[in-house]
Amino acid sequence: MSEQTASQEGKTYPPDAELSKSANVRPEMLEQDLQEFWDEQAKQRLDWFEEYDQVLDWNLPYAKWFVGGKLNACYNCVDRHVEGGKGDKVALHVVPDDGPDSSEARDITFSDLQREVVKMANGLKELGVGKGVPVGIYMQMIPEAVVAMLACARLGAPHTVVFGGFSGKAVAERCNDLECKVLITQDEAMRGGKAGAQKTNADEGLDAGETTVEKIVVVQRTGADIPMSDRDVYLHDLTANVSDDPESCPCEPMDSEDLLFLLYTSGSTGKPKGVVHTTAGYLLGVTTTHNLVFDVKDDSVYWCAADIGWITGHSYITYGPLANGCTSVLFEGVPGYPDKAVWWKIIEKYGVSILYTSPTAIKSHMKAGEEHLQGHDLSSIKILGSVGEPINPDVWEWYREHVGGGKAPIMDTWWQTETGHILITPLPGITTLKPGMAQQPFPGVRPEIRDDEGNQLDVEQTGNLVLTQPWPGMMRTLYKDDQRFKDTYWSKYSDAYFAGDGAKYDADGDIQLMGRIDDVVNVSGHRLSTFEVESALVEHADVAEAAVAARKDDDTGQAIIAFVSLKGDKQGTEELEQALREQVAQSIGKLARPASVIFANDLPKTRSGKIMRRLLKNLAEGEELGDTSTLVDPSVVDEMQKQMKG
Ligand code: WTA
Repeated sequence: MSEQTASQEGKTYPPDAELSKSANVRPEMLEQDLQEFWDEQAKQRLDWFEEYDQVLDWNLPYAKWFVGGKLNACYNCVDRHVEGGKGDKVALHVVPDDGPDSSEARDITFSDLQREVVKMANGLKELGVGKGVPVGIYMQMIPEAVVAMLACARLGAPHTVVFGGFSGKAVAERCNDLECKVLITQDEAMRGGKAGAQKTNADEGLDAGETTVEKIVVVQRTGADIPMSDRDVYLHDLTANVSDDPESCPCEPMDSEDLLFLLYTSGSTGKPKGVVHTTAGYLLGVTTTHNLVFDVKDDSVYWCAADIGWITGHSYITYGPLANGCTSVLFEGVPGYPDKAVWWKIIEKYGVSILYTSPTAIKSHMKAGEEHLQGHDLSSIKILGSVGEPINPDVWEWYREHVGGGKAPIMDTWWQTETGHILITPLPGITTLKPGMAQQPFPGVRPEIRDDEGNQLDVEQTGNLVLTQPWPGMMRTLYKDDQRFKDTYWSKYSDAYFAGDGAKYDADGDIQLMGRIDDVVNVSGHRLSTFEVESALVEHADVAEAAVAARKDDDTGQAIIAFVSLKGDKQGTEELEQALREQVAQSIGKLARPASVIFANDLPKTRSGKIMRRLLKNLAEGEELGDTSTLVDPSVVDEMQKQMKG
């Protein structure tokens, strides 16, 4: 029988019979009761210091999972594997920026990882870090970043990782909000063959105002001569005389609902939201989904090419894979360096069997050309994953054909910082795949697609994606802001979680994600709020007002278009455009830099003074503008349109 059957909708790919037999996930799991399913997983997958006495305490919108249980995330990710005889197994194949052939490439076993974590944890203890003392982490993709997260978890110290590409201002904002006493960073970042500032960025941000950070721990990556003050200490100095014996630093028994970490994410207003994730539910959610969605076996070699600064890195580089005792690749660099074949060399060298990445990365490989894959043995690949944005069917097909050898199933996984782990995804050996669709809820997950009034929608009608049942890794609240938590996620509908994504069902009941329906833009799978970018623009002295919209972009999914009105008689020049793009890069990070800036005398406003955002969205997308008669000055729009065309 042909693997591929044509349907009216397009091609579909039935599951491979062998995979159906051997897959970890079983069809019966989809029928299981919510609590029964997670109870079974919790007993099977995690080690508990004290058993829980209740699976779920659900008081919408507040969830408590595994009530009364005690455990430690680091123990589950590291120590138990060593104690169980897997100490010599490779935990991380560390690939530095200059690729797998570099002399700096090295392997870290679970025993090595344990020693490194214990050492860093003992060092942190000397700085007063312990249970409940928050720590900031501002690092690139080096193993010490993973070690830092685990060292915090070992001590019971909540961490907040700030994406290494963000500005120092973003670091200060987040660390001060969580009241971090200690920040862990590195001297410099190495990416694409270039060293870039890291520690000095953090200094700039922290020194711009008052800060709660009292100590900065600096990991030496490049050995550059960077300014160090009394506030700073190198990690190797801090840990020079501490023990690496696990008994010198036992894993702190944490309550199931103790804070594991906070991760700030963009919302529809300027202030980033501190998403709260607690210990047991989160850890179980990421461990179970990682195991079942990617069909992890004892000999799997897994590579998630995300960044630890995002939730994907937290859940599917650090906590999920390590709790599963899985061997992972950790790559510091970028897809095109030292050459365009670096990814394929990594897969070949380590025999990667599971690759999890974003549509943007796949598109960059498509653009680079198939020739770079030729001559590289990718036959080890068994399962592919995609995350972060909708994947176009042609990109999906390319991924399967060229990376997956025309047979590896693709798991298009939908989830969010707030959900903690994968919620909608095909399952290996079970789902008949459809290119470009996340398709089916994970066991226990109950999605619905509703209109604004709360009615469930028919097939092929786009509406709001909601979830009507709790899941273990769900965010518990927004840090110090229960009200915003309720308003943002639980007020649109009284009985369900509002995800902020548009979605529709097809005739078979498969779900297709249609993108964000709020003011969140998704650039290369990185989530940004239009308001954040606007705030950065108005920081410039010449800017009176700014509004931001996104247009589709072949490479990055969406690209940011900034509409700006200037003060007095200031003129919109090319130089000013560059200065504004730079301003945003400086203030937030390079990924937020607008693709273009459109100048106008004023922004399109209604008579009540409200900026018509719908119109800006249409303008950015080059769509019909519809009715502009409610505008105070419709000529503003003509002016903008002219610039967009020019
Ligand atoms: C989008 C990343 C379509 C979506 C894990 C969501 C996706 C936002 C997919 C969360 C997917 C993520 N298909 N869209 N498979 N995965 N998204 O918090 O809009 O950085 O709301 O978490 O990414 O982004 P976040």
